[in-house]
Amino acid sequence: MIYRFDILGSTNDEARNALYGEGDVVIAEHQTAGRGQRGHTWESAVGENLTFSLILEPRFLPVNEQFLLTEVLALGLVDTLAEFGIEARIKWTNDIYVGDKKIVGMLVENSLGGGCLARTIAGIGLNVNQTEFDPSLPNPTSMSLVAGREFDREEVLARLHHHIMALYEALRCGEKAMLQSRYRSTMYRLGEMHPYALADGTIFEGIIRGVRPSGELQIEHSADGTLHEYLFKQVEFVIKK
Ligand code: BTN
Repeated sequence: MIYRFDILGSTNDEARNALYGEGDVVIAEHQTAGRGQRGHTWESAVGENLTFSLILEPRFLPVNEQFLLTEVLALGLVDTLAEFGIEARIKWTNDIYVGDKKIVGMLVENSLGGGCLARTIAGIGLNVNQTEFDPSLPNPTSMSLVAGREFDREEVLARLHHHIMALYEALRCGEKAMLQSRYRSTMYRLGEMHPYALADGTIFEGIIRGVRPSGELQIEHSADGTLHEYLFKQVEFVIKK
């Protein structure tokens, strides 16, 4: 079911209500307190984009395999954008990029139970028809800016739901290797040399070689050829504006 609201604080907060179950979508035209990663806010022009939360109940998925859900969601977005003629890549962990610009942000919140995931709230902000962004945002883009035309947001939402649920069913059926290999081959900057920043501000040049099944990013340091593994927040991409 799709539950529509004109205005909400955050769809992720509304989606916590036990009224919503597996496969349901909570969508708002306007979020007054949209939340982003790392405590940031998520700004989105009213009525131009898609800001929604998808509820999943992946009780079959052990906690230590939860990165597979990130893979399902990210690939679902990439598949949807591809259907609309937009080639996108996954910036580890779950941003979606076109070129060096961000077109989708995701805030995934899991609750656990008995060693497995009990409930996942996948908050997705997809820039669809917005063409002007606050200059303080680092590198935003939208489907409209990339393709030079407007999109029907209802159609995009329907296809997105279809693609994510198809990959989610593949995960339920155990197609883990497919998800891992597709995620790896769709990674932004895979196999290219670029600068990265460590949490202490140190900058280094490296090449992304892949991601561990548990989600750690694998970067080969160009200085000495050693392979390092990074957890979320331990390393940042350095991207020119
Ligand atoms: C990011 O910082 O990249 C994550 C942005 C996530 C935004 C979406 S919009 C719908 C859902 N509700 C929220 O409050 N946040 C997510």
